Amino acid sequence: MQKLINAAMQARMESYSPYSGYSVGAAVLTASGEIFSGCNIENASYGATMCAERTAIFSAIAAGHKNFTAIAIVGGKDGEADLPYPCGMCRQVLSEFCDKDFKVIIARSETDFEEYTLGELLPHSFLL
Ligand code: THU
Repeated sequence: MQKLINAAMQARMESYSPYSGYSVGAAVLTASGEIFSGCNIENASYGATMCAERTAIFSAIAAGHKNFTAIAIVGGKDGEADLPYPCGMCRQVLSEFCDKDFKVIIARSETDFEEYTLGELLPHSFLL
């Protein structure tokens, strides 16, 4: 868990968030033990912004991974460590690829974090 949180913290440093000043980093763990990370990437056309969680999982999927066990998320206003609960759209995207027992770690630091399952954060998700 510490390693995954640390990867999310490293990714947060690459956040492009000049409009909100809220930087987020995420790191997803594949079933095969690899870590893929991502940050939020904002845009002058605000709706084109991409969240850190989706940047991370899309990067893993693009590299050929489809099975995941956990994600760590860190973030907050610049220089602060908040508890950045994933937005609804990211929860829905995670539910496309991850089981109900997939772990979602929301962290202020490597030792100060909350742990949920995806099933707790998004019960009755929409699936076709
Ligand atoms: N953001 C994320 O990266 N993940 C979330 O789950 C919620 C929000 C980003 C998007 C935007 O760049 C900033 O946080 C403020 O909304």
